[in-house]
Amino acid sequence: MVFTFLVLLCACGCVFAIDTGFPAGYMGDCPGMYNDTQFSDSTKRSLSVVVMWPTNGFIRSQERKCQLSVRGAACVARHLNLNKRKTQVMITGYLDATFSPVVRSVAAPYLEMGRNIILVEVFPLLIRPYPMAARITRPLGEILGEFLAELSRRGLPPNRLELSGGSLGAHIAYYAAAKYRELTGQKPARLSGLDPAGPCFRNLPPSQRFNPEGAEKVDVLHTNIDGFGIADPIGHVDFYANGGEYQPSMFGDFIMPCFLLCSHIRSAFYWLLAYENPDKFIAVRCESVAKARHGDCYNDTVVPNFLGPKTNFTNKGIYYLPTKEQLPYYIGEEGLKKRKYNHNGYLLRVSPDNDVIV
Ligand SMILES: *[C@@H]1O[C@H](CO)[C@@H](O)[C@H](O)[C@H]1NC(C)=O
Ligand SMILES: *[C@@H]1O[C@H](CO)[C@@H](O)[C@H](O)[C@H]1NC(C)=O
Ligand SMILES: *[C@@H]1O[C@H](CO)[C@@H](O)[C@H](O)[C@H]1NC(C)=O
Repeated sequence: MVFTFLVLLCACGCVFAIDTGFPAGYMGDCPGMYNDTQFSDSTKRSLSVVVMWPTNGFIRSQERKCQLSVRGAACVARHLNLNKRKTQVMITGYLDATFSPVVRSVAAPYLEMGRNIILVEVFPLLIRPYPMAARITRPLGEILGEFLAELSRRGLPPNRLELSGGSLGAHIAYYAAAKYRELTGQKPARLSGLDPAGPCFRNLPPSQRFNPEGAEKVDVLHTNIDGFGIADPIGHVDFYANGGEYQPSMFGDFIMPCFLLCSHIRSAFYWLLAYENPDKFIAVRCESVAKARHGDCYNDTVVPNFLGPKTNFTNKGIYYLPTKEQLPYYIGEEGLKKRKYNHNGYLLRVSPDNDVIV
């Protein structure tokens, strides 16, 4: 009897002791990421940016297309007031383009804030198989960095330069910022990553991908860390939305959970809503990513921070950002309290904690 008990105990113990590790992450290593990737002259000539600036008239902003080159910098300097206004450089991700409605929506709050916008055109450059698109981020970022350094020679102060990029665009933004620092000796004011791409990047040495050396202030919003995003904290302030793995459902409570791509893209929506509602996306500091995954970040000393324009960079660290599943996503000060059902449990609410007859 005692023997059987011990055998059972051991069996249970052994079952519970299986080390299942943690997710390896989607497409960790890609060929050629350590090799050279160069642009031909015709590729270089094809590069462009769209510049936008706020106006007082009925049409809230104007825009022009300029070449992404030293000559193009003169075109940008003609249209933008580089000394007086902050300049926001935005870079989109894989299969995206400056004309995408999502990109335009993310740009809108920056224009409202009175900033210049430089949208880097990645179409059709990044329309190719993903592992090739990943290799293109570095040379494109370096050309962008040279271009921004040229803009600084034409009056753009580094403390008025901010970059933000989504997915592959986050790494492009970092490479640009690093090149900019190499050429000017100064860092841009801020670098923001919206779910920086993990595939082909997650196993690179930290210095070879998006990292906190890029700018004076570096913040990251993680929404799909084991899929299209990256799990490591790679900024001064890293927000893990709902644990960072998956985002709550897009289509109601039961139809379709929000898997990889849905969760990845959700970062752009949180971002734009946080810029429209700067006090609403409240996150709490967490000891580790491992704990943030489970929302296990609440104790007696809650250290809050805001996603968006009000992020406090004095309080560096890893932050758990809870949201709800419907627009406008934010939950304000509710986020300071531990919720019964966290990110992985939000669908469970529909099932009561007692016996049912259906
Ligand atoms: C490409 O990179 C790999 C890994 O660093 C290296 O072993 C290889 O020699 C490189 N190939 C060329 C042609 O440089
Ligand atoms: C409370 O959480 C913070 C941030 O996660 C951590 O630094 C601190 O050590 C925790 N305090 C206790 C008593 O666990
Ligand atoms: C940022 O946090 C620090 C430390 O908690 C605090 O002293 C400072 O006032 C905060 N800054 C802003 C702008 O709220």
